[in-house]
Amino acid sequence: MIVVSNKKASQFSGDLLVFFVRQSEKKRPPVCSDKLVQERIDHAFELGDCQGKKEECLLIYPERVFDGVRAKRLLIVGLGGDELSRELFRRVGGVVAQKALALKAEKLFLVVPEELPFSASEMAECLSEGLILGAYRFRKYIKEEDDEKQGEIKRISLSVTDSAMAHVRKAVKRGVVAADAGIAVRNMANEPGNVWIPQAFAEYGRKIAEKGGIVSRILDVDEMQQLKMEGILGVGQGSAHPPKLVILEYRTGKNVPTLLLVGKGITFDSGGVSLKSGENMGDMKYDMCGGAAVMAAMEAVAEEKPGRLDIVALIPAAENLPSSTALKPGDIITQYGGKTVEVLNTDAEGRLILADALAYGVEQFKPDAVIDVATLTGAVIIGLGHHRTGLLSNNDELSTNILAAGERAGEPLWRLPLADEYREQLKSQVADLKNIGGRAAGTITAAAFLQEFVGKIPWAHLDIAGTAWNYTEKPYIPKGPSGIAARTLIEFIRSWK
Ligand code: BES
Ligand code: MN
Ligand code: ZN
Repeated sequence: MIVVSNKKASQFSGDLLVFFVRQSEKKRPPVCSDKLVQERIDHAFELGDCQGKKEECLLIYPERVFDGVRAKRLLIVGLGGDELSRELFRRVGGVVAQKALALKAEKLFLVVPEELPFSASEMAECLSEGLILGAYRFRKYIKEEDDEKQGEIKRISLSVTDSAMAHVRKAVKRGVVAADAGIAVRNMANEPGNVWIPQAFAEYGRKIAEKGGIVSRILDVDEMQQLKMEGILGVGQGSAHPPKLVILEYRTGKNVPTLLLVGKGITFDSGGVSLKSGENMGDMKYDMCGGAAVMAAMEAVAEEKPGRLDIVALIPAAENLPSSTALKPGDIITQYGGKTVEVLNTDAEGRLILADALAYGVEQFKPDAVIDVATLTGAVIIGLGHHRTGLLSNNDELSTNILAAGERAGEPLWRLPLADEYREQLKSQVADLKNIGGRAAGTITAAAFLQEFVGKIPWAHLDIAGTAWNYTEKPYIPKGPSGIAARTLIEFIRSWK
């Protein structure tokens, strides 16, 4: 729990008191707003132990006689000397959370620095995100003896001046909603494939709809058969766990634009009959991270109730397995809306389920903009690595706004081109399209495939295959699933004009 307070640091007698300091020009100790703490910093600086470098930590155990500080521990965290940014405060929030867990500190008090050229609201918002996201651990399936119990942060106070309190409270609320969304994504993703089956998406959708703010509807196999959604049905037909299409609707009741969100919900991707190699196949339980991001964003929407737009979310969910009933290379399916696809590789399954959802969503809900999120191609990892999400779009303005939202969220994206030439690679001899376009530009041809199903509507595709898990670690992102894209979507929705 995070509270905003105007108490003085000297009044805090809990486990960990935190000050942030800037690195000053060479040969000067970092400056702290508290005089007594400054003495300690000066001393440590002389010894070469405290320069205020970015994310540098100095832990001090104040004596009882060290009056002015009653806290059990004092932590000085460096902010460095470069320009301040939202991301920096998220990162140091994560650093504090990790320290607190290691020390088993339960009650924290952070002094939000007021003398810096950066708004207290944004500092508090991003510190809150970093603290919550940085304290995340997934230990549900680990039995712990009492003596190995992990630390748990129970209460965090952010102290600010009286006049800033009201604004900072709102900012912290924003930070908490966004961080909780990231954590919801990680929790869904961390559930193994035998637990997080398509039905789990349906239940989660129903559960958040019950809390109010949004309405849920789940399409089962029968209904998808009537609608001729052979992408979702085909990909799911090799599994004993039937596929689902989860529909979530947020309505303002006003005459406002509609945003359509679509998230890839492959709960396990073995590749199907075009079986993947065994190496790291277990990671393919994370192939539902796009669906989870969209789900968590809708949970945040239900809470924040934005007034300027209606939002519809579609999560096609299926398990891609080989069996005697599975789709085979060479099969031809009919996507929603009638386009036929020659399935030459059953491992290119994401685009098949997304195509149905996009075509259905565009026709049914007549959106003004569409964003899909998917762990779609290994090729995006070759192109961009693990630190930029691939963005492909038919619309410059939408792209600009998503890039800006990602920047604010600390989830940077990089736009890749999309043009008619690439469609050539998807020409089939026997159907309207084939589902693979060869090795060249794999991320772009995947997007070109999706583009066939959105028509002229402003649309953007986020390929998160490189950023959804592993090698994405930061002080506020542990190993495993990162929770990427939910906060970008939330930022995008908040800044909708
Ligand atoms: N889910 C994978 C993409 C993926 C690969 C995500 C590695 C994260 C890490 C997707 O369904 C897939 O298998 N794509 C194929 C497409 C190919 C067969 C055209 C790929 O990228 O190899
Ligand atoms: Mn695949
Ligand atoms: Zn996949």
